[in-house]
Amino acid sequence: MAGLSRREIDARGHPVWAEVDLDALRHNVRVLRDRAPGAELMGVVKGYAYGHGNPECAVAMLEAGATRLGVARVAEALHLRDRGIAAPIHVFTEPPVGAVAALVERDLVATVYTLDFARALSDAAENAGRRVKVHLKLDTGMHRVGVLASEVPDAVAALRGLPGLELEGLWSHLAVADVPDHPFTRKQLDLFEDLCGQVQRAGLRVRYRHIANSAAILSLPEAHLDIVRAGVAAYGLWPGPSFVGCAPLRPVLSLRARVIMAKDVPAGDRLSYGLTYELRRDARVITVGAGYADGYDRRLSGRADVIVRGRRRRVSGTVCMDQFMVDVGDTDAQVGETITLIGEDGGERVTAEELAELIGTINYEVTARIPSRVPRLFTGRAPA
Ligand SMILES: Cc1ncc(COP(=O)(O)O)c(C=O)c1O
Repeated sequence: MAGLSRREIDARGHPVWAEVDLDALRHNVRVLRDRAPGAELMGVVKGYAYGHGNPECAVAMLEAGATRLGVARVAEALHLRDRGIAAPIHVFTEPPVGAVAALVERDLVATVYTLDFARALSDAAENAGRRVKVHLKLDTGMHRVGVLASEVPDAVAALRGLPGLELEGLWSHLAVADVPDHPFTRKQLDLFEDLCGQVQRAGLRVRYRHIANSAAILSLPEAHLDIVRAGVAAYGLWPGPSFVGCAPLRPVLSLRARVIMAKDVPAGDRLSYGLTYELRRDARVITVGAGYADGYDRRLSGRADVIVRGRRRRVSGTVCMDQFMVDVGDTDAQVGETITLIGEDGGERVTAEELAELIGTINYEVTARIPSRVPRLFTGRAPA
């Protein structure tokens, strides 16, 4: 879904929207670029830019100095190409071999780690009279996707025999970089260096090596190598609890919703499904036009705070699919007022980290789960 203006959000009656501050995103990219001055920065924009919205976020990241983009799926890459983005776009996983033509035609940077896929891709490239840039994914211990250390000699031999492929990069992914000084990270870095050395010694000239995610950009300069892959920190979210405040990052996303009904309810009455919340005194109750179908998790029922007129108020009772209620006491809240579910208002701030903690997940998931029915309102300088 494309971004909407404030006027469109009002005219279409959207009761909940995500405000995405592109200036904050650009600022964060510059901060991260400065942390890894010798490396190119890849803006990781998979998952609809962690829920923040594409192509606007992708373009803003490129404007701030990212030189390439990373996505998980071919369809995400095509969405960016269709919107005129010409920068290199890396697809982090191999799609089924039926999709190799799209990688060739749209000049995407493919990840390779299986022989069948590499062959199919090479054939497709040769048929088109081209060479496709590929980055070989090395499994250094996370065991998600990639070539195991023991398979690297075979992979090198196979790549030599595939003329449609240009081996441009070697890369891997860190499993616990968010935990400072975890010994497994050192093991992964050492193994990666060793495997890169093997490939080079076998005579393959490879221009890029990359392994650093946000946590490694912020805490492991030795992992920066030739490209750093910046995801969560670019969105002003912390890679883990020990990183909070370690760099001057600014949160990019705020989630706002409107009061869609307000009423005075007598003491002793109960609210929402399950009647779990009882009013101790007569109070104003507001119904907020956002629910779990907007990514506002049902487990936030009775636990999360929202900001009403600059003051924290607890969600009262069960979060429904499209609404939830809040007891605002004697505050005379009115229909149409904006309240804040994530973000700042009047000096108070609710963070994605705080909501994640309440429901036992990570900040990544809190923003990534905001679905497309919630319009994105982009603020800051419009992307060119
Ligand atoms: C392959 C790959 N690289 C980089 C990233 C970016 O990680 P982060 O958001 O922690 O910076 C991700 C995200 O999960 C990823 O899957």
